Amino acid sequence: MQVGKVMSRSTDKKKVKLQKDDLQTFYRLLSFAKPYFWRLVIGSVCSVLGGGSILAILLTGKSLIGFIIESPTFSFTEDVPAMEASAFAVDEAGEMVPDASAPAETEAPATDVSGTLFSKFISDSDLKRLEQQGVSSLLTMSGVLMLLILINSLATFGSVYYLQWVGQRIVMDLRVKLFSHLQKLSISFCNTSSSGDMISRAIADTQLLQNSVTNIVIDAIRQPITFLVVLGYVLVDEWQLALFSVVFFPAVIVPIVLIGRRLRRISREGQRCLADLTSVMKESLDGVVVVKAFGQEAREEARFDEQCRKFFHRMVSAAKAKALNDPITHIIGGIGGVGVLVYALIAKMPIKDCIIFACAIWAMYEPVKKIGRIFMEIQQSSAPADRIFEIIDAPVTISDSPDAVEISDPLQHIEFRNIAFNYGTKDVFTNLNLKIENGTSLAVVGPSGGGKTTLVGLLMRFFDPISGEILRNGEDIRKYTMKSVRANIGFVMQDTFLFNSTIADNIAYGNPEATREEIENAAKLAHAHEFILEKEEGYDTVVGERGVSLSGGQKQRIAIARALLRNPGLLILDEATSALDTESERNVQAAIEGLMGRMTMIVIAHRLSTIVKCDYVAVVANGGIAEFGTHAELLAKRGLYTRLHELQFGSCSNGTDVAV
Ligand SMILES: Nc1ncnc2c1ncn2[C@@H]1O[C@H](COP(=O)(O)OP(=O)(O)O)[C@@H](O)[C@H]1O
Ligand SMILES: [Mg+2]
Repeated sequence: MQVGKVMSRSTDKKKVKLQKDDLQTFYRLLSFAKPYFWRLVIGSVCSVLGGGSILAILLTGKSLIGFIIESPTFSFTEDVPAMEASAFAVDEAGEMVPDASAPAETEAPATDVSGTLFSKFISDSDLKRLEQQGVSSLLTMSGVLMLLILINSLATFGSVYYLQWVGQRIVMDLRVKLFSHLQKLSISFCNTSSSGDMISRAIADTQLLQNSVTNIVIDAIRQPITFLVVLGYVLVDEWQLALFSVVFFPAVIVPIVLIGRRLRRISREGQRCLADLTSVMKESLDGVVVVKAFGQEAREEARFDEQCRKFFHRMVSAAKAKALNDPITHIIGGIGGVGVLVYALIAKMPIKDCIIFACAIWAMYEPVKKIGRIFMEIQQSSAPADRIFEIIDAPVTISDSPDAVEISDPLQHIEFRNIAFNYGTKDVFTNLNLKIENGTSLAVVGPSGGGKTTLVGLLMRFFDPISGEILRNGEDIRKYTMKSVRANIGFVMQDTFLFNSTIADNIAYGNPEATREEIENAAKLAHAHEFILEKEEGYDTVVGERGVSLSGGQKQRIAIARALLRNPGLLILDEATSALDTESERNVQAAIEGLMGRMTMIVIAHRLSTIVKCDYVAVVANGGIAEFGTHAELLAKRGLYTRLHELQFGSCSNGTDVAV
């Protein structure tokens, strides 16, 4: 499956079923929260507490404001900046907090009471009593308010922390799942997908998702709770106005949803651009030698520049869409606010109700805005989520059968029987038959592209044949676990890959528990021990990325040591010396020839001396094994092998080492 193809197909489909698909993706994301149910519950309980405390804050605030407005002590003080409604401001989150700029609440009212208008009608003692009562009630109420604010703050912390935890964890699990699925996917999948794109999906897409999912999890639980609590209050208190808000709030959501749709499209394009950008970066780093050798630095820069530009434009479009969101909702919010005031004026609402109501509406406006944002986030997050699920859903074509067993018996023979295989297009094999006895060595030769590498790939179960079977001691290798099939084979490729670690770690890659002695023995067998000791830090020398600090021949011998350390019943060498200079080649050659007779070997060879030393030669061509026999038998046949031989070694072959 090619990810790119799947992606473009699914994009077309999604234009039609935008909403449904978004929600499906989102439900699927949410299913990842299941293992963390209790944390979600704690977060939700904290949200309820947060919402409840807001309600209590509103109620206390209402009494407090009512008290202030109705109390003669406070309401008619002429020039004393008494404790006013403004002593409580509403913070960004719609939660009431004491206004720091307000004067200390207990001092102001008492100072200039005798100057009030009321003093003309009320006796001094009455005034004193009222004043004392007022101060103590005010203090109690302020204390309650402070307590509620404390509860609200703690609950806010609890809900944000626990819900954020779940959001982050979902994304971590997704990342791990994505990587683990990538490990299971077939080699052909990884070959046909761009590695830059994969990296981008595993890192950038999950990152984008992390931000969105965390916000979604938090807001989807907190905001509706807060909203419902305050709505409940408003409904009980002033149902006409509550009805008004039912009409008004959906209006706030509409632009958010519309912008969200646009964001979703931009986000999908943006993530694709980012993947292209990563690919260009990765390619130019991987191919740095080619880039420099051909003087194409400027071209690479231009390619990168172009991708950056594309990404920039997508991001700017997204920023524009997001930037539009707040002004639009604020305008609608403003209209609503004015509406409330006009209504209050017409309905001749008492000032304290009006203030509290305005606070309540504001307390609801924030959650509504955030609920609207959830839509936006869901739409925005579905783009990266889809890209991640595309990988997670990519079918694992090569897997163990449910009753697969471990290999336990020693190798006797391997047989390819009636194998047909292709990579999806042209047939590589139509009917291939081949038998290898234990302890023998087989040289595999043939024209380039004939299928030599494919043959050993089938044996390693990198791919399965379309028809036919590969038998190990007479049993189909698909009966065994892939792990044990591979564990019994030492595989050395033409392009060795070394990890950026020490030589010892690289040799022990397939067998991390190996002792230093075992590592050294394997290195000795691979003719690597001497050069390793010559290195400053010996086996602890770090080889650099891809083993850059080693020559081709050295890398290859480490790869052979790595394969040998697993003590394989069968050793496969795929053109292990073809990319090496003469001297390196000779060293590797010596290593390979030293192993002959010690174990079963399949050597895809281009060196005549190797071919001659092998017990048998198989010519892979025309969809199968064209010829099979010893070197001498095949030469005597004067068939394809002879032709290949003459073509590659020249008709006047003198038996020296010339590349096939
Ligand atoms: N991963 C792949 N996807 C598609 N086609 C492939 C792949 N690997 C090899 N082929 C094709 O299969 C044929 C056999 O390739 P290969 O086994 O590598 O040949 P050889 O090792 O003999 O040079 C060639 O035509 C090659 O183009
Ligand atoms: Mg090959």
